[in-house]
Formats: sequence, structure tokens, C-alpha cells
Amino acid sequence: MTLARQHQIQVVAHRGASEDAPEHTLAAYKKAVEDGADALECDVRLTADGHLVCVHDRRVNRTSNGRGAVSALELNDLATLDFGSWKNTDGEADEGPDWADTSVLTLERLLELVADSNASGRNVRLAIETKHPTRWAGQVEERLLLLLKRFGLDAPPADGPSPVRVMSFSARSLHRVRAASPTLPTVYLMQFISPRHRDGRLPRGVKIAGPGMRIIRNHPGYVAKLKRAGHQVHVWTVNEPGDVELCVELGVDAIITNRPKQVLSQLGRR
Ligand code: G3P
Ligand code: CA
Repeated sequence: MTLARQHQIQVVAHRGASEDAPEHTLAAYKKAVEDGADALECDVRLTADGHLVCVHDRRVNRTSNGRGAVSALELNDLATLDFGSWKNTDGEADEGPDWADTSVLTLERLLELVADSNASGRNVRLAIETKHPTRWAGQVEERLLLLLKRFGLDAPPADGPSPVRVMSFSARSLHRVRAASPTLPTVYLMQFISPRHRDGRLPRGVKIAGPGMRIIRNHPGYVAKLKRAGHQVHVWTVNEPGDVELCVELGVDAIITNRPKQVLSQLGRR
């Protein structure tokens, strides 16, 4: 592996250190910070009473001991659920949780973790993905920008890169973010290459491409096209050593992975 090329690659913990700890919990994000991840990835959804929480699926059924759509539950309802025991090492979800810090994670709490980590000398970034934003007609982005503003993170600092970026599969969601905060970096996520993006160009104003690993394996030349069009390339979800190696060879800018510790080790950074 060409170490000279890989040293600038950002290692992003997908849903936290989610191979080892229950995804989207404070436990998973604390572990990712301890493991040395450069950035944390999270998905955000709105609760029935307007709070942004870090949950991937539309429903809480897979990752908690509760049932129902996040959008139909209030934060108080979610706070009674355990988002950790499904990940117990013995596979027995009905036994007590192996993990601490596994109640529902608000985006606000995650921003506090990032702020605390950075106050103690780290330089951790946060990549926030808006989930199913069209359903909410702009409310997800509106709440997100308000919250980022409270943390002073709704625009990059004058003297450096933004600690936060917003990602989405929805160009409309990214457009709303840029309309409210034109300098906040946005990432256009892609599951496949649509005809309109075949030449490497992205929706207007988007600087960063977020292709899935399957695109990279099937169309490795696409990275160069994106780069020629002036974009950074952040690839998800890169868990296998061979895929990490391919990303390094192609010169991608960020690797989004469930296994930040192993990827950092493969890159010779741990
Ligand atoms: O980082 C992008 C990636 O998370 C998109 O897929 O389904 O894991 O949110 P998903
Ligand atoms: Ca995601």
C-alpha cells in the first residue's frame, strides 16, 4: 500500500464504531473517538415532537426493544427504550445490556461529544445524513441548521475547514441546507451512477461525492471523473481490507467504515 498517498484519507466511523458497539449510541461514538476516528457519521430523523435523533431506520424495531416509527414517537417515548441489548455478544436480546450509554441519542448530545472531544485536543468531524427529508418538507434541515447554529457550527470557521458536513441521497435536502448556509459543506450520496452524474458532475453547489463501495468496485474510473470535476470523494461503507486498499489506490478522500480501528491500523496510523 502506498503510505504516501493514504496519510490524508479521513477515516469516518459509520454510525459510530458500529461493528463493535450498538450503532448510533453514545457508546459507539465514544468508542470511535477512542479508536482515533477522524470523523463520525450519523443519520438523523425527526421525532413526533420535533427533536433530531440519531436513528438509521424509519422504525426503531431493529435497533431497540421498542416498536414503531421514529416520526410517530416523542422523545420521552424513545428515552424509555434500550438501543443496546440487540447487540449483546451472546445474541440474547432479552438479557441485560452489555453496553452503557445506549439510550436514544439526540443529535444535540452527539454535538456535545464532538465539542468535548475537540476541547480536549482532538479534531473530530461530524458527517450528518438527513434521512427521508422530503416527507418533512424542510423541517429536518430547518431544525438541523438551528441546532448547528447554537453550537456555532452552521458555517466553517474563518481559519479552517468545517467540523460539520451534511450528507444526503436527496439533492433537494442538500439544496435546502445550502440555501440556509451556503458555506456548509454538503455530500451527495449515490447508490448508483445516474445518467445525469455520469460525467462526474454533481448537483449544483455540492462539493463532495459520496458513492457507495459497490460503485467504486464496478466503476473504479469514476473516482478520477469526480476528481476531474473538482469534487472530493467520500466512499461508504468500506469494511473489507481489499476495499480499503482499492480506495487508497484510487486516491479517495474519506473512507466511511463500521471498523475505524481496523482501517486505521491497515493504513498504518495505529
Ligand atoms: O455514509 C453514507 C451511508 O451511511 C449511506 O447509507 O444506509 O448506511 O445510511 P446508510
Ligand atoms: Ca448513513
